Amino acid sequence: MKFFIDTANIEEIKEAYSYGILSGVTTNPSLVAKENVSFEDRLKEITEIVSGSVSAEVISLDAEGMIEEGRKLASIAENITIKVPMTPEGLKAVHVFKKEGIKTNVTLIFSANQALLAARAGATYVSPFLGRLDDIGHNGLDLISDIAEIFTLHKIDTEIIAASIRHPQHVTEAALRGAHIATVPYKVIMQLFKHPLTDQGIEKFLADWNSRNKS
Ligand code: E4P
Repeated sequence: MKFFIDTANIEEIKEAYSYGILSGVTTNPSLVAKENVSFEDRLKEITEIVSGSVSAEVISLDAEGMIEEGRKLASIAENITIKVPMTPEGLKAVHVFKKEGIKTNVTLIFSANQALLAARAGATYVSPFLGRLDDIGHNGLDLISDIAEIFTLHKIDTEIIAASIRHPQHVTEAALRGAHIATVPYKVIMQLFKHPLTDQGIEKFLADWNSRNKS
């Protein structure tokens, strides 16, 4: 499973990229709104740092508007992926983007049927939202398993991005259940590094080193 970072914050992207773990970035309108910058300028900046897929979401709700917005966003850089909501209009846009060679990420996926529809329309990626399903008492991880099983069974090459990740256990489980990618907020990426025994081990090694007989 590969890692994307789920943020529009440039410092977070630079820092995560420096660890050598980052294969892409996902943004959404809420994440961009927090940054108080021009969306297009920020996308350009991100694509100059990360060579992998950078998802940029359209705001229009009709296919025509999504196609117009998506074409403009895709012209910013070769690695822009157009993020489209899981609606009939969204899939019309995905179908057109597919023919034009523009990559797409169908977002706000909450069922296996939605993922299958999006894949058949030609989506490059589907994004099932784990945390938001958990929030309403469903099991987001079971959805990853179902989609992965269906895509394997039917030889579908659309990649599954585990999204709406809230904690490290989501990451481990998404990997075990067959997600191709997890898009992870910066805070959770940092939590993935941590283990108390690692910290204690470093402390002990240093203490032993400093107390060695220097004669
Ligand atoms: C995915 O691409 C979305 O940006 C994201 O994962 C949404 O997560 P949230 O439910 O924490 O807002």
